[in-house]
Amino acid sequence: MRQFTEDNLTEEVVARFKKGAKDARFRELMVGLVKHLHAYAKEVKLTEEEWFEAIKFLTAVGQKCDGKRQEFILLSDVLGLSMMTVAINHKTEPGATEATVLGPFFAHGAKEFGYGGDLREGATMKGEDVWVHGRVTSTDGKPIPGAALDIWQAKADGIYDLQTEGEFELRGRVKANDKGEYAFKSYKPKFYSIPMDGPVGELVRATGNRHMRPAHMHAIVSAPGYQQVITHVFVEGDPYLDGDAVFAVKDSLVASYEKLGAAEAKRLGMPEKSLKLEFDFKLSPQRAGAKKARKKIAASDAVA
Ligand code: BEZ
Ligand code: FE
Repeated sequence: MRQFTEDNLTEEVVARFKKGAKDARFRELMVGLVKHLHAYAKEVKLTEEEWFEAIKFLTAVGQKCDGKRQEFILLSDVLGLSMMTVAINHKTEPGATEATVLGPFFAHGAKEFGYGGDLREGATMKGEDVWVHGRVTSTDGKPIPGAALDIWQAKADGIYDLQTEGEFELRGRVKANDKGEYAFKSYKPKFYSIPMDGPVGELVRATGNRHMRPAHMHAIVSAPGYQQVITHVFVEGDPYLDGDAVFAVKDSLVASYEKLGAAEAKRLGMPEKSLKLEFDFKLSPQRAGAKKARKKIAASDAVA
């Protein structure tokens, strides 16, 4: 067939993908993509100049990526696509900790810590000291001994260690004890701007969009036999909770930082005016017969 027009081109492209793509799911993904892209181009009457600008933008997004910087994740986040895939794939079972975006700053290889470990070790900047404590349980309240919590957060200036030349900072792989309790020392997170020095920043500015993220710490909680949860714990009272640049806030993930109290601080080896955060993570059991469990982050490679 030849002589393609605005009216018959989509059908032909779809037919070729249908014929050529061997894997059924891959076929479904590609056919849907072609249909929606063509429909979009027709709806907005896309000009060649505009499409070339878009190609230049996507090229710049790719060129901004390296072993530490993931501009494509950032793009997906500000388009709301990351949160849309989380919403589609994580219909949280009642009582389970809700999932939210991974973001671009997860890294493998963080130091391991036991109960009470100090994530402030080697920090280049001080913050408000906080004792973070809680339990990891199943949705029915059973403790999960030895659960692993991958924790990361920005420094006091709102910049992540991965955005600098320095070493890992304020991140660690914390193990729950044999009662399923975890604890670590850290700093209270602060709100920050998403990286605005790249093409995604330009897009956010050009669209008059929001660029601040409410204060949070990140956590990936994993245990054998349970569904891994990728989530955040937000700071109650933060001014950006209602305007998150990446749409990731859930009410159930907002927690309050309280005063620790002098005696308790002393007992825990914390400075006198410390805070405490109490937050329990609840995991759903692995679905029986789930064919392709989502690839676990611990074994994947958000940032190598
Ligand atoms: C973060 O929380 O680290 C993050 C998430 C999305 C975009 C930028 C940063
Ligand atoms: Fe973050």
